[in-house]
Amino acid sequence: IGQDPAQHEVVARRILVGTAGKRAQGFLRRLGITRSYVFINTFLYSVYGQGGGTRHIGDPGITAYRNRWIKAILDRSPIEAVVALGGLANTAWQSWLASPDAAGRSPLPFQHLTHPTWPESSAETNAERQVAVTKMLENWNEGLAALGPVIHHPDTTEPLVPYGTAFAAGDLLAVAP
Ligand code: URA
Repeated sequence: IGQDPAQHEVVARRILVGTAGKRAQGFLRRLGITRSYVFINTFLYSVYGQGGGTRHIGDPGITAYRNRWIKAILDRSPIEAVVALGGLANTAWQSWLASPDAAGRSPLPFQHLTHPTWPESSAETNAERQVAVTKMLENWNEGLAALGPVIHHPDTTEPLVPYGTAFAAGDLLAVAP
């Protein structure tokens, strides 16, 4: 679950294809997932800044609409784990769990990760951004360690290799068509 579409997504009419998406693809690849995933965003349309998202995260109409998508995905696909990219996506998942349609389902492994472009949105200088990337990748490594053992049907079966302190070349993957 991502947050909201940015410029690349609006042009491509497909979510998580820009910087955040490439980083997210790289995260999935480390788990051996290259095709067998579904991305949805917390918001269908871009929100203006984090404040715009915070203002609308509780909107009942938005939540109900998103929960219909989550229900449709879970009803039709053998989902093995759920990842929230950022705090608003985490709230989106918690809102689903609190909804009547989530009742009675077996709990899915879930990880709340730092949003992939948090370094860019939180840092003012390049040095600060690099520190933030390192911090984010520590958080993502915790996610990898938790998710690795629960992904039973990966697309590839390479050993799980954690991130270093910065993104490496293969971490910024273009989205599979
Ligand atoms: N960030 C997100 O969380 N989702 C997108 O689709 C693009 C950027």
